[in-house]
Amino acid sequence: MSLIDRVRLVSEDHALALRKLIEANRNKVAAITFNLGYLPGSDKSIQTRAESTDEALSASIQLLTTGGYLCVTAYRGHSGGKTEAETVEAFMRKSQIEGNAVDCYEPESSNSPPILWVLRKR
Ligand SMILES: C[S@@+](CC[C@H](N)C(=O)[O-])C[C@H]1O[C@@H](n2cnc3c(N)ncnc32)[C@H](O)[C@@H]1O
Repeated sequence: MSLIDRVRLVSEDHALALRKLIEANRNKVAAITFNLGYLPGSDKSIQTRAESTDEALSASIQLLTTGGYLCVTAYRGHSGGKTEAETVEAFMRKSQIEGNAVDCYEPESSNSPPILWVLRKR
């Protein structure tokens, strides 16, 4: 089977799409990555938002296998981005307290750089 035969494209809100996967894939997924925000050069009103991102992250934890990785890049420079990034941070801090390994990478810049979070499920 070629790689393309193993790919399924789903065009849906990330919270809904991931929630639907839980029943058949709980604790089975090795890696999930989020690149939040809007598509540069496209309609900026179509952007990820704090509430559904929080739901999508909660679904992701349930999908990940032990040792699986969750990577999230959050942008703070656009409208709604700061709130969303704070929501991601709160989720990551809580996940860390619950026992997961969490790292945060923030480039040195005075200009609200993006933040990369990497969680490894324990
Ligand atoms: C920074 S871009 C990343 C695009 C691409 N995934 C990548 O990594 O190059 C963020 C993308 O999230 C999409 N998006 C906005 N709201 C979303 C949602 N609720 N669920 C899933 N994706 C969403 C945007 O349309 C945009 O294409």
